Amino acid sequence: MMSRRWLVVVFHLSLLASLCALASAQQSSSAQPKPGSANKAGMYTGPGGCAASNCHGSVQPKNVTRIPQNEYSIWAAQDKHSRATSVLSNAVSLRMAKILKINQPNTEHKCLACHAADVSPELRAETFHLEDGVSCESCHGPAVGWLGPHTTRNWTHEQSIKAGMYDLRDNIHRSERCVGCHVGTPEKQVDHEMIAAGHPDLTFELDTYSSAMPRHWRPTRETEAWSDVREWAVGQAVQLREALNRLDRRVSGPNWPEFAEMDCFACHHSLTRPEDSWRQARGYPDRRPGSTEWNAARYIVFRHIVSQVNPDLAAKLDAELATLTDLVGKWSSHDKVEASAKQAAQLADQAAQQLNSQKYDQQLTQRVMQAIAGDGTNIANTGERSAEQAAMALDSLAVAFGKNSSTKNLTELRSSINELFKQLNNPSAYNAPQFASQLQKVRAQLPQGGSAVAGNR
Ligand code: HEC
Ligand code: HEC
Ligand code: HEC
Ligand code: HEC
Repeated sequence: MMSRRWLVVVFHLSLLASLCALASAQQSSSAQPKPGSANKAGMYTGPGGCAASNCHGSVQPKNVTRIPQNEYSIWAAQDKHSRATSVLSNAVSLRMAKILKINQPNTEHKCLACHAADVSPELRAETFHLEDGVSCESCHGPAVGWLGPHTTRNWTHEQSIKAGMYDLRDNIHRSERCVGCHVGTPEKQVDHEMIAAGHPDLTFELDTYSSAMPRHWRPTRETEAWSDVREWAVGQAVQLREALNRLDRRVSGPNWPEFAEMDCFACHHSLTRPEDSWRQARGYPDRRPGSTEWNAARYIVFRHIVSQVNPDLAAKLDAELATLTDLVGKWSSHDKVEASAKQAAQLADQAAQQLNSQKYDQQLTQRVMQAIAGDGTNIANTGERSAEQAAMALDSLAVAFGKNSSTKNLTELRSSINELFKQLNNPSAYNAPQFASQLQKVRAQLPQGGSAVAGNR
């Protein structure tokens, strides 16, 4: 069976691809399936299958095919995902385990679920090692079914998808992959208990996080000029939807109220003299003073793009999330919060679909940037995590702008946006009026043109 497939493979090949396929053929054919299993589509081979220098392991980018072939080297040397399993043995992880009363984190599914490709044993080929971290197949899907044939000349992306590859070209699928670990799923959870034990809080923004990985793919493969804006917008919609699904699960779980669904720094800020408190100066509109509030960070910035492309949908989302915020703030009964979270998740999904097929251009990008910066006081007052989303959004959009249009003061603009990030260095000392005033400065430097017509409340 195996050898016949490789024969067919080699038959179609260019010289380069044949060397590569042979390398991976050797890899996989030396991979004896575990007892009781066969190497088949849906199984995981481990990153070694992609590492040969004529596959994805070249140190320098190559120009031979559409693919630069240095993806493995970027992942291994620069991408934190490659070390995701080893951080489970560091001092912070070991202390977390002690606090949480669990075993070695690098043997616990509770941790490995996101820090490795912790798939069930019958799906692991012989070459698979759990300690390889978040590797190729955690994002691209189990490779045994397509590893060999995907290097052949007329093999298509669609054929790979049929053989088990995930379609990461689609921004919705791509975001779903990332937020599976960066927001969570029923099987993958970071809650306040884990955060209090030392786990970092989970925040995410697709475009910013993709640059930080760093990307091992050509940024705009789709030659479409404003595709970064689509990446930001779709990523926002999907992370909102998944955060709402998570809220829905947690509100009926045993640990409600789950503090990780609330604004962290409503509780975790440094107290000041009353006359210095921006929170008291702001007041507590529509809630009991001192009550906790749903963390609206995944929504408060995102709503500005929805307003621009679909005002009706934006109005529905605004209304539903106002209801949800009210219910969560009152720690209302499970069924009410659940119903509202489900409804809102559906609206977020509708937004994701539209934003994925939406056309993006300079006008729209400009209007969204202006709407965000023009809503500075509201965003800043909503809390530190919302401010962080505004900074990431403006930075992503400014970079997209710089790539696609001639803007004179881009350097000044980006350095003003950097000042926004600096204000977030110590989140417990976050100061909303200061952040809002820096947003005013950013606003004054934004490219002029399309005006923000809708979206500020
Ligand atoms: C829902 C997925 C998920 C689960 C489950 C999870 N983590 Fe994480 N972990 C992450 C993500 C995502 C990050 C990176 C967060 C960021 O920087 O935005 C991270 C980061 C960390 C870090 C910081 C790493 C560094 O480079 O400083 C440590 C330590 C850690 N996790 C330990 C653990 C331990 C121990 C467990 C089990 C008790 C665990 N994690 C469970 C997703 C998860
Ligand atoms: C954290 C997620 C993640 C990991 C881990 C990852 N990738 Fe990717 N990869 C992506 C995303 C997202 C894209 C962009 C989607 C696209 O262009 O198809 C991509 C694109 C690629 C591309 C370009 C595809 C194309 O058609 O242009 C190659 C090749 C690739 N990855 C190989 C690898 C290899 C080899 C590894 C392991 C060493 C790896 N990736 C690990 C997320 C990941
Ligand atoms: C299988 C789970 C998983 C998937 C899927 C995943 N990540 Fe991660 N990600 C992690 C973990 C765990 C860490 C922490 C690694 C560490 O610190 O060593 C992390 C860290 C990161 C970091 C570094 C954050 C920091 O604080 O420096 C970035 C950036 C990132 N991920 C982006 C992405 C993007 C973009 C995608 C989707 C294309 C993605 N991740 C998909 C689990 C995942
Ligand atoms: C409703 C109030 C509340 C909210 C909201 C809340 N926490 Fe906590 N948090 C607490 C309390 C109470 C403790 C226990 C402090 C102690 O006993 O020392 C705690 C403990 C912690 C600790 C460990 C103590 C320390 O200082 O290192 C961390 C870290 C933490 N929280 C982070 C967060 C993050 C991040 C969020 C948002 C995702 C958040 N918390 C949301 C109340 C809250």
